[in-house]
Amino acid sequence: MMIPYKHEPFTDFSKEANASAYKEAIKNVTDSLGKHYPLVIGGKHIITEDKIVSFNPANRSEVIGSVSKADQALAEKAMQAAAHAFQTWKKVSPEIRADVLFKAAAIVRRRRHEFSALLTKEAGKPWREADIDTAEAIDFMEYYARQMLELKNGAPVLSRPGEFNRYSYIPLGVGIVISPWNFPFAIMAGTTVASIVTGNTVLLKPASTTPIVAARFIEVLEEAGLPPGVVNFIPGSGAEVGDYLVDHPQTRFITFTGSRDVGLRIFERSSKVQNGQKWMKRLIAEMGGKDTIVVDKEADLDLAAQSIVQSAFGFAGQKCSACSRAVIVEDVYDEVLEKAIALTKELTVGDPVDNHFVGPVIDQSAYDKIMSYVKIGEEEGRIAAGGTGDDQTGYFIQPTIVADAAPDARIMQEEIFGPVVAFARAKDFDEAIQIANNTDYGLTGAVITTNRFHMEKAREEFHVGNLYFNRGCTGAIVGYQPFGGFNMSGTDSKAGGPDYLQLHMQAKTTSEML
Ligand code: SER
Repeated sequence: MMIPYKHEPFTDFSKEANASAYKEAIKNVTDSLGKHYPLVIGGKHIITEDKIVSFNPANRSEVIGSVSKADQALAEKAMQAAAHAFQTWKKVSPEIRADVLFKAAAIVRRRRHEFSALLTKEAGKPWREADIDTAEAIDFMEYYARQMLELKNGAPVLSRPGEFNRYSYIPLGVGIVISPWNFPFAIMAGTTVASIVTGNTVLLKPASTTPIVAARFIEVLEEAGLPPGVVNFIPGSGAEVGDYLVDHPQTRFITFTGSRDVGLRIFERSSKVQNGQKWMKRLIAEMGGKDTIVVDKEADLDLAAQSIVQSAFGFAGQKCSACSRAVIVEDVYDEVLEKAIALTKELTVGDPVDNHFVGPVIDQSAYDKIMSYVKIGEEEGRIAAGGTGDDQTGYFIQPTIVADAAPDARIMQEEIFGPVVAFARAKDFDEAIQIANNTDYGLTGAVITTNRFHMEKAREEFHVGNLYFNRGCTGAIVGYQPFGGFNMSGTDSKAGGPDYLQLHMQAKTTSEML
């Protein structure tokens, strides 16, 4: 009998045995750095001359490894391999497709710290953040496999006397998976396995800053018995390979997680019907956020400060769910700000190998962009904590609080994707919700209040895909808090939710006269 789904518990690093196992894993990963990983097309490993090199963001001279780099000709080859494999994979039973995910989840669970340690090195994730990323990858596999088993017979429809109606789900075709660097394991694996467990075949183009963890996951899928051509691994440039595949007439769907700019570019390009194209491409997009924590005057103010600081600075604020705005009712503004400053000053910044709370940001261009927003913050508000950075060895930025920002300031409107949070005052709770809703985005939000009526008002009016009460606004769990947002945050495709897999399929009605 199938064990019901339950999310993977996080590792308790306060236990000495776990901490030393993790240190050992970091040591092993460090010893194995520098390897090269091939493209995988139709099951064949292909080494190209052109390579993408992955560096440690905490120590830019350390090479994590390299991957071969696809050009358009190889992308075309991968498309044909995926189209070919689709003809057989679509007929493989959902049970067998699900088994591949269960097996892959078991392999990752056995090698859990190894994967997390790699994330610590390649993405600059502190231990806990890396551990959460790996746990979420396992969750996606376990959850989507079970979801597929629930959907395998379709959904119930009525039949009149003398007829027999059925409503079944069939796969779409070849999908393009374009995955981000900030959850380089969980989101890469989640979007890939959701696509294949539903019977599609894919071309996986991982983020160029974090391709090694993706290459290792491909090895896991191979070990789990995935047939050749179902997942084709093609790291490459967005401008060259990404656009080419998004435009390709044989592309049936695209599942993208990343920036708003790239998401909208894909939205536009994929809507153009190409010569020989027989369908309207489907787009599943998870883009940015400008997420707010609202603090009411009737609230636990310590909880408010903790929630803001954890959600703003966990993984250096590089989550689309990160808190980048705190909107606080003026009666308690000064007190919450003071508490948040005190907590922020306790955070240490440094190499995630040593488990500092704030690690590096991902690369030089992220560093430069975030520092330019710190400058904007200086002009638009008051730097109440942090405000400095150091990119000598790695890309380190002090967790930064910009106090007294106006609701329409750039620092309150534009996605920064770094350890920067702006604080704004609201005269009362109603105004706080208005300010919270005044961005183009609608991904996550949180409300800290003990007032039940205010909670209900927020439930109705705070327009975000994931709304949390009396906690931070990051850390959605697969199967518990399906994740995805409104407006410019994407297509509200709720990853880890009960209707996510259907986005990767089309429904077919059959009606037989008896
Ligand atoms: N799912 C993550 C979170 O909730 C963000 O991608 O924080």
